Amino acid sequence: KILIVDFGSQVTQLIARRVREEGVYCEIVPFQKAAEAFRELKPKGVILSGGPESVTLETSPRAPQEIFASGTPVFGICYGQQAMAAQLGGEVEGGHHAEFGRAEIEIMADSPLFRGVWHVGRKYPVWMSHGDRVTKLPDGFEPLAFSENAPFAVVADEARKFYAVQFHPEVAHTPQGELLIRNFVRDIAGCSGDWTMAAFREEAIGRIREQVGTGRVICGLSGGVDSAVAAVLIHEAIGEQLTCVFVDHGLLRQGEAEEVVGLFRDHYNIPLVHVRAEETFLKALEGVTDPEAKRKTIGRLFIETFEAEAKKIGGAEFLAQGTLYPDVIESVSFTGGPSVTIKSHHNVGGLPERMNMKLVEPLRELFKDEVRALGRELGLPDAFVGRHPFPGPGLAIRCPGEITREKLEILRKADAVYLDEIRRAGLYDQIWQAFAVLLPVRTVGVMGDGRTYDYVCALRAVTSVDGMTADFFPFDMAFLGRAANRIVNEVKGINRVTYDVTSKPPGTIEWE
Ligand code: XMP
Repeated sequence: KILIVDFGSQVTQLIARRVREEGVYCEIVPFQKAAEAFRELKPKGVILSGGPESVTLETSPRAPQEIFASGTPVFGICYGQQAMAAQLGGEVEGGHHAEFGRAEIEIMADSPLFRGVWHVGRKYPVWMSHGDRVTKLPDGFEPLAFSENAPFAVVADEARKFYAVQFHPEVAHTPQGELLIRNFVRDIAGCSGDWTMAAFREEAIGRIREQVGTGRVICGLSGGVDSAVAAVLIHEAIGEQLTCVFVDHGLLRQGEAEEVVGLFRDHYNIPLVHVRAEETFLKALEGVTDPEAKRKTIGRLFIETFEAEAKKIGGAEFLAQGTLYPDVIESVSFTGGPSVTIKSHHNVGGLPERMNMKLVEPLRELFKDEVRALGRELGLPDAFVGRHPFPGPGLAIRCPGEITREKLEILRKADAVYLDEIRRAGLYDQIWQAFAVLLPVRTVGVMGDGRTYDYVCALRAVTSVDGMTADFFPFDMAFLGRAANRIVNEVKGINRVTYDVTSKPPGTIEWE
């Protein structure tokens, strides 16, 4: 196991990704809680992340001193390097030669950190982002590499197995940076690299059995990958003690509800209650146009519907959820102030408290792509596991303005044609999310000899790593022409198609 101490860098999660890609389990903790986590986890190695603060200030974050005294190998990155230097008796100076972006380092001495990767006397590109730099090394440390503006680009105390780099090895802009992380976790810290999805599956099954005993579990399916993987895993662990509830709010895409029901009931033979609640949801959404009001209405109804079903099933003390690691990681907060709510995404957040049930969250430790790998391991079809994310409020937030059954039907058809074209072009897996939006605007067109006055459909496709930032997908014009042509011809009610070329920020992925 590896412990990652987070000093608030934007890319701390990437360190965890790189470590896990080596088959080594790791956890991220904010620096304020690092001492406790270190004692509990007993890691074989510690990685100190980068961060926005300056070590030169008295009040800035530090790593727990006991880590350095424990004999555990430590790898400091950027701010982590500076904190390490300052805490072990070296010196750090504030920002005369800030370096941002690509830089080149030259290797001065051999080290287990560079084994099989970087060679003495050669130069390599790295990605830097720092204002401060280490100016005097602590006792026992030697420089291993330098850059023009960082004489101590890489330093080490080989005897104590302390390593520190000024650049960011975890980002893709540092070619082979992942290999340095591998050398640290595998060779230097001695982690074995046997944390695979097959091993995780076995462990998770054991943990679920232990937690649940002979109790009953209810799992809400959304149609998405996370809840599906959680359900299949739990079913493998406890079989018939699990009942799945699928609240079908009538805001899903074409064929989606049938697919979920088919997969669970027929393929896996998992008990599933399919709650057809379209009427209730559409009724409650009548006249609602404000995006947040839509989310609140849907969230409230979802909880009420789910709760009523759970009561009918009766006797369940556990509620299963497909919560993922990024939702669990506590982020480092320097201000403690509230952040602005752009959209209230956590539509079913209040469910467990309200229902007074114990939570079963077998995916709490996993990143999205690990959940996908686990899904494949459990035999879920590739096409299901590789699906684009889909928001909880569904098509309601892709239909700006008031939602009607008629509009939803038009939107569903257009969306299906668009996705079909994307799959045919072989582009589905290159895109993070793609969907159609039905605009509450009618425009004039001409079809055959007649005048039309129909809705406008906007197409959206973005690339993204985590949904936090996104770029529009650069389709070629021929593709867009084909998709637009098919939509206007095949979907009655739409006579014009546009493509959204806004990135996030300043736009968001969804239109509402
Ligand atoms: P935005 O539109 O904020 O979306 O750029 C980022 C990601 O979140 C999804 N999204 C939601 N997911 N409930 C959800 O479960 C919501 O209310 C919601 N709104 C947006 C969106 O699809 C994208 O993946």
